Amino acid sequence: MASPSNNRAAVQGTNDDATASKLSCVKKGYIKDNYVHLFVRRPMKRSPIINRGYYARWAAIRKLLFQFLDAGMETVDNTPLKKQVISLGAGYDTTFFQLQEEGKAPTLYVELDFKEVTSKKAAIINSHEQLRDKIGKSPIISQERGEVHSEKYKLLPVDLCNIKELDAIFDLAQLDSSLPTFIIAECVLVYLEPRASRAVVKWAAEKFSSSVFVIYEQIHPEDAFGQQMIKNLESRGCPLLSLHDTPSLEAKQLLFTDSGWQKATALDMDAIYNKCLDMQERHRIERLEIFDEFEEWHIMQEHYCVAYAVKDLKGLFQTFGFCNV
Ligand SMILES: C[S@@+](CC[C@H](N)C(=O)[O-])C[C@H]1O[C@@H](n2cnc3c(N)ncnc32)[C@H](O)[C@@H]1O
Repeated sequence: MASPSNNRAAVQGTNDDATASKLSCVKKGYIKDNYVHLFVRRPMKRSPIINRGYYARWAAIRKLLFQFLDAGMETVDNTPLKKQVISLGAGYDTTFFQLQEEGKAPTLYVELDFKEVTSKKAAIINSHEQLRDKIGKSPIISQERGEVHSEKYKLLPVDLCNIKELDAIFDLAQLDSSLPTFIIAECVLVYLEPRASRAVVKWAAEKFSSSVFVIYEQIHPEDAFGQQMIKNLESRGCPLLSLHDTPSLEAKQLLFTDSGWQKATALDMDAIYNKCLDMQERHRIERLEIFDEFEEWHIMQEHYCVAYAVKDLKGLFQTFGFCNV
């Protein structure tokens, strides 16, 4: 059995996998990301089904993020509302840099991960001008502490299993509990013990009065594909510790509504791909590579979901979500 420190290293390794897969998608033309290559030491070509899966994940989350960023624009004379984004277990995600490039970055963007990961990310940011340029004037970058601080962007180390650390981060990052806040945990909470992932969801509900929490993670551990998925990750030393606690779409919704969120929705990636993503874009990416694994594609997509929850005391997010389902 893996020790906790092995487990921690193995979970961090899933970030390298995700980053390499995103780069594979970029190289094939599925997604645009001018920064992800800076975080990959050994680029790898992924199979068409993996590329398509990552595209769907990227497009789904981006759609929700952009909806959040655009919400409330009309209310204040075209002055964008102040907003913040918190990425839990951000790994080497480059969304902040892309948003800066597109002129869409929120008032504050906070990325959290284990110190081992944030230290390496801080070092990579420090050594590439195109990343440093994006984080604003006179940033403080410390590889040793695993921290980056600028007015708009903070990268900070934390163990999400420790709510006291999250509370300390709240102050250190100068988060504002009254600002509309988008919290994203992409393939993260499922690696925590159920008690710990539930505590994070509750913490977020209590901290922010106007917020959206989005997760992307696995479902359906009970069937043959699900069993194989569990075995694969277990054999790599990073078991999906929370999967049996929230094994279905209903359970993912309850994870939120049981912990103080006003409403929650969960959809599997097969439904999201077919009904919620931009059709023209879908047609474009479907022509990028020869693809004949249709049966496996549907099964795979049925084992991943996006769940999102809303706490909307200011009435900003009444229409938030994938509205055409
Ligand atoms: C599968 S990667 C996903 C990275 C990123 N969210 C993405 O989608 O590209 C999971 C990330 O969660 C982080 N993580 C897992 N458990 C954590 C914990 N207890 N505290 C902080 N970070 C954690 C890992 O270090 C890793 O970077």
